[in-house]
Amino acid sequence: MSPIKTVLLIHGPNLNLLGTREPEVYGTQTLADHVKVAEVAVAQHGASLKSLQSNSESQIVDAIHSASGTIDAIIINPGAFTHYSWAIHDALKSFAGPVVEVHLSNPAAREPFRHTSVIASVAIGTIAGFGGQGYELAVHALFNNGH
Ligand code: DQA
Repeated sequence: MSPIKTVLLIHGPNLNLLGTREPEVYGTQTLADHVKVAEVAVAQHGASLKSLQSNSESQIVDAIHSASGTIDAIIINPGAFTHYSWAIHDALKSFAGPVVEVHLSNPAAREPFRHTSVIASVAIGTIAGFGGQGYELAVHALFNNGH
């Protein structure tokens, strides 16, 4: 596999509210804080990070399409789209590079509707339940995974 030079970090709906949204579940760090952590970790591997947050499923699908040919790997926290967006599943399936799924909370330990991920099957792996540390873990896993 060719070396990863560019990584796209995608955040789904309501994650623009991080910092104030249910801090007891998602912590007090903002989206910008998480993006910065990922940016620093990606730079440690000599690569660069692009970042997108959208509340719109179609914008996320379009961004994944545009990533083909310009982006080598995707890290995605799809928010609630995790649990039902077959459109994002299909878009990621058509992306040639590795995909890592990240969640701040541990959806498996929460409400039953969060127990299903339609994204997990198109990811090389999922990191969940470790708060913001998950982004750093995802970056290092991506680069140390032979992908
Ligand atoms: C989340 C978990 C999802 O169930 C939820 O809808 C989110 C955030 C997480 O990071 O823990 O918006 O993806």
